Amino acid sequence: MGDPIAAEPNDATPFLPERASLRALRETAAGCRGCHLWRHATQTVFGEGLKRARLMLVGEMPGDREDRQGKPFVGPAGRELDKALAAVGIDRAEVYVTNAVKHFAFEERGKRRLHRTPRTFEVQACRPWLDAELRVVKPQALVALGATAGKSLFGSGFKLTQARGRPIDSDVAPFASATVHPSAILRHPDDTERRAERRAFTRDLERIAAQARLMASA
Ligand code: URA
Repeated sequence: MGDPIAAEPNDATPFLPERASLRALRETAAGCRGCHLWRHATQTVFGEGLKRARLMLVGEMPGDREDRQGKPFVGPAGRELDKALAAVGIDRAEVYVTNAVKHFAFEERGKRRLHRTPRTFEVQACRPWLDAELRVVKPQALVALGATAGKSLFGSGFKLTQARGRPIDSDVAPFASATVHPSAILRHPDDTERRAERRAFTRDLERIAAQARLMASA
């Protein structure tokens, strides 16, 4: 017996609209069947933000809350992101926020749906949507939040520990960098460690914004 998932399509390209605007991309992505993840998710969670945003942030994949609401970073990790952006003087309304994978992947534990890290083939299947968003928004600065986004954007050799907070040489945007995923803050069971991780995340964003000259005062 073959693997039923392996028999599914694994490329979003046939679902892309002929004329790409953010609205057309969002509308057509809603019907994407480019991999198997749509089967269990509530909906596609497409990127959100200004068409001409100077900064694009790329997360991993929608979580439970995002899957229900259809918007990226509206759950606990999103609140961490919002706090850090506000602390460094970046208005989230002026940022384009998206994910490497546009459907929620999870494991069921009773009534709970636990996030699972997307597999490489799921990230690759979804990459055409991210490429299309990059072509339309053309951000000046692009920041990967976490290793999954980093690998999707910069290749399988991407190492978050080496790239964190530093400029990354890449042709995806004039300025590119990476930091941890904001959910890394929430994973610390200990308050002191959580605060330290939060400070480090905020410092990374501050450094990145300064390097890319994105802060309000620049
Ligand atoms: N984690 C992500 O990577 N993206 C979201 O939208 C929410 C949580």
